[in-house]
Amino acid sequence: MRASLSVRKPIVTQNGRGVSLGAGDACLTSCAASGSYDQPTLSGVLSPLRRIAFRYPDSEHFAVALTASTAPRVNAPARDTLANFLDIVEMNGANHPDNRRIAISAMTAISKPLAAGQKIFAVAPMMEWTDRHCRVLHRLLSSQALLYTEMVTAEAVIRGDRARLLGFDAVEHPVALQLGGAEPTRLAEAARIGAEFGYSEINLNVGCPSDRVQSGRFGACLMREPALVADCVAAMRAAVPVPVTVKCRLGVDDQNPEESLRTLIDACAQAGVTIFAVHARKAWLEGLSPKDNREKPPLDYDLVYRVKRERPELTIVVNGGIATLDEAARHLEHADGVMLGRAAYQSPAILAQVDARFFGGDAREIDAATDAYCDYVGAQLAKGVPLHAMTKHMLGLFSGRPGARLFRRHLSENATRAGAGIGVLRDALAHLQRAGDLAAA
Ligand SMILES: Cc1cc2nc3c(=O)[nH]c(=O)nc-3n(C[C@H](O)[C@H](O)[C@H](O)COP(=O)(O)O)c2cc1C
Repeated sequence: MRASLSVRKPIVTQNGRGVSLGAGDACLTSCAASGSYDQPTLSGVLSPLRRIAFRYPDSEHFAVALTASTAPRVNAPARDTLANFLDIVEMNGANHPDNRRIAISAMTAISKPLAAGQKIFAVAPMMEWTDRHCRVLHRLLSSQALLYTEMVTAEAVIRGDRARLLGFDAVEHPVALQLGGAEPTRLAEAARIGAEFGYSEINLNVGCPSDRVQSGRFGACLMREPALVADCVAAMRAAVPVPVTVKCRLGVDDQNPEESLRTLIDACAQAGVTIFAVHARKAWLEGLSPKDNREKPPLDYDLVYRVKRERPELTIVVNGGIATLDEAARHLEHADGVMLGRAAYQSPAILAQVDARFFGGDAREIDAATDAYCDYVGAQLAKGVPLHAMTKHMLGLFSGRPGARLFRRHLSENATRAGAGIGVLRDALAHLQRAGDLAAA
């Protein structure tokens, strides 16, 4: 698809710096000056623009629209996306006091339902793992993967420190907020708050088996209460303009998965949910730890595929035990999407191949992504974020490469020290460089 883009007036910020949108606008203007551009050219300009966005905090809204324009869930032509966004910014003024609100308007304006046949590659929600820093790293490795937050309970969203629990960087888009809860009105309120923060999807957790979650009567034990889940998602859908989705198990304990999965999905579909991520094993609520519940109950992918075949109108994403992109590709022959958890976290380098393998984009260079992440780490350190909170997500990034063990060891030994700065990360990376040079010599 080739399309022309009209050259727009540069937007100057009120404080006179005129840089945030101006910097991005300059890139767009130079693209436009070439007369026309197509989707690949656009994705070519996105990475430098994302890096610009890191440096100018008030360009968040700009970055949101740019990242959203290549999102798996956005099927509008990229030029319309950008044009919509720029119109919104022009209408509101680039110096609008609430950039996030502008970003949400842009997101809402460009969010479209999944196109038929559009595949999803998602990184699963994982407590303590898929925090905002992890998601930035993952986004630098793939522009197309759909990212999820850790589960946040509805009560925490409503009563807790929202900036800490929900804050995220615009470059993470598309990013879905996963909520835990079982109270329709509370979930609706939490979903509304999440959508206002700019999340592109709100997901309900119907799969977590931990004791804490069971005592709150939510998570996997909701597999026993499909009518309540339907009430919850109906209330959430009524509260937000973005998709409400469900992540579930096949069933729990002695439930017959052939029945429990279909009943749960049908109840939610009746309430208007069209997208489901299914962890393709039951959860055993008595006697198994959450960790064992990710290993011991056997996987049954075939059941998930059959449910998809019977309900072609629904989008079914398969999750559980998918370790490689080859395996993911095989699942995609039977399901609309794949969701990887541990493999993506422990070996994030596989994400660098996702755009090329599944979305017709370019493979990402790990070293370029690492450079960009170093910029991000530097900016976050300046805001007081401890180094370890960001570098812990990189430990598996170079697995299999010469020097990877030294890299990990250096970070493990030094990144948690008080006052640890970017130098620790640079020194860890130097181990890789040296080992690489030695191997090449
Ligand atoms: C450390 C960890 C934390 C997890 N936290 C969540 C969570 O917050 N919400 C959720 O729905 N699933 C959670 N899960 C389950 C994963 O989303 C996923 O369903 C599971 O790991 C199976 O996928 P995998 O085999 O690709 O890892 C967690 C898994 C791990 C390993």
